[in-house]
Amino acid sequence: MDTNNIIIFDTTLRDGEQSPGASLDINDKIQIARQLVLLNVDVIEAGFPVSSPGDFESVSRIAQEVRGVSVAGLARAVEKDIDSAAQALEKAERPRIHVFLATSEIHRKYKLQKAKEEIIHLAVKGVKHALKYVDDVEFSPEDASRTELDFLVQVVEAVIDAGAKTVNIPDTVGYAVPDHYASIIRGLKENVKNINKAVISVHCHNDLGLGVANSLAAVKAGAQQVECTINGLGERAGNAALEEIVMALKTRQDFYHCSTRIATKELIATSRLVSTLTGLRVQRNKAIVGENAFAHQSGVHQDGVLKERTTYEIMKPEDVGLHKTKIVLGKLSGRHAFKDRIRELGYEVSDDEFERAFEEFKRVADKKKEIFDEDIEAIIGVEKTDVPHVFQLESLSISCGPQVNPTARVQLKLQDNRIVEAHTNGDGPIDAIFKAIDMLTSITGKLLNYNIHAVTGGKDAMGEVYVDIDVGGKTIRGRAVSTDIIEASAKAYLNAINKVVGKKTV
Ligand code: KIV
Ligand code: ZN
Repeated sequence: MDTNNIIIFDTTLRDGEQSPGASLDINDKIQIARQLVLLNVDVIEAGFPVSSPGDFESVSRIAQEVRGVSVAGLARAVEKDIDSAAQALEKAERPRIHVFLATSEIHRKYKLQKAKEEIIHLAVKGVKHALKYVDDVEFSPEDASRTELDFLVQVVEAVIDAGAKTVNIPDTVGYAVPDHYASIIRGLKENVKNINKAVISVHCHNDLGLGVANSLAAVKAGAQQVECTINGLGERAGNAALEEIVMALKTRQDFYHCSTRIATKELIATSRLVSTLTGLRVQRNKAIVGENAFAHQSGVHQDGVLKERTTYEIMKPEDVGLHKTKIVLGKLSGRHAFKDRIRELGYEVSDDEFERAFEEFKRVADKKKEIFDEDIEAIIGVEKTDVPHVFQLESLSISCGPQVNPTARVQLKLQDNRIVEAHTNGDGPIDAIFKAIDMLTSITGKLLNYNIHAVTGGKDAMGEVYVDIDVGGKTIRGRAVSTDIIEASAKAYLNAINKVVGKKTV
């Protein structure tokens, strides 16, 4: 099937950075720009150089550092903006100056106080001035979707005549709806005589939640470039989300007959980087890159997906950079999903062990909304363990804090049910616990690694602890999970010690 290539113009670093709440320093911007190169976007709009010295600096650093992609700088249709953009883009391999001027009646009357003729004159003058510096000039009639179509036709024709290679049609205030927006694109294609000399671009804001729908409708009507942002960041409600546009075009190529050059496997990494650096979290149920986008909760869906992925999935998680579909195990999950996950985790359990584990799973799932892999390992660990319980933690108490010498009191249960106890101090509570265990087991483990992390979120989070200890030149790993991280630490250490006494090492 022949497909038309859609140019992806990423404006995360310009319009995206205008998101209330987003803040990026120059190093963050360079990091994002590098990731956008990996994502293979066609154009990176790096900033609005005249707007601040910081923006100027980041556009020029990005222009200098990234290769294989066009770098655009935004400018109003005034000489000082265009000069500043040109200067910031000096070192770019493929510089583009993006000139904009509002054209709608509301903007002409209240913001600019200029007549139509003057708008056309300034737009043409701006494009010509930019062409003195670069070959690649884009022009945007700001608020195009609220501009009278006949006037928009005149402006677009004039700037193409002046040499603009791309004409971008912004829905600046997110006012358009898909049929209306598509009709503007068709109107331009039909009425602008020189339209074939330029690329038609679209730039949709999301005030009515229609940014992506409007962009796609425009593509169907013949637009060849889409301006968008990672995670849909942007002024007010944001811009059309890049990941949604790209995956819609890929998934529904049968309908759009279009493709992009985007390396879709980089989508998740890019989304996470942008979210981390801007501090703007992605909502869980966000299409494509949200945590739930490839997660199945209902037992019926889980059964279907496990039998045949396409029953409930229209995209492959691998295509966006995820490892696999997420089956969210919880109280709605059935035997099929539970057994499948146990197998995936590499465990073999007998039928009896499985039945017991499944019962335990249902019990835990009643208390805990989501059951994670680590929870399952803990459940399986209850049912199936090849580590002998030579020493078991009977009780544990610590005292620590500012001005307090950390101490631990540990009681262990031996195989003959005797309880032994030690009371020690250490550099910290964990050190004190490990010393007490060494004392009680007569085994001295040299701690090589201690790793702790919360495996689930919320107040019922399970803390998982891994320890690597050296005993007689052998490295032994111990692991334990508990809602109490101090207890998990003691149990992980004991798990390793039990492997030593049971002559089992990993
Ligand atoms: O939304 C808008 O109109 C813009 C222009 C500067 C392209 O961001
Ligand atoms: Zn915008």
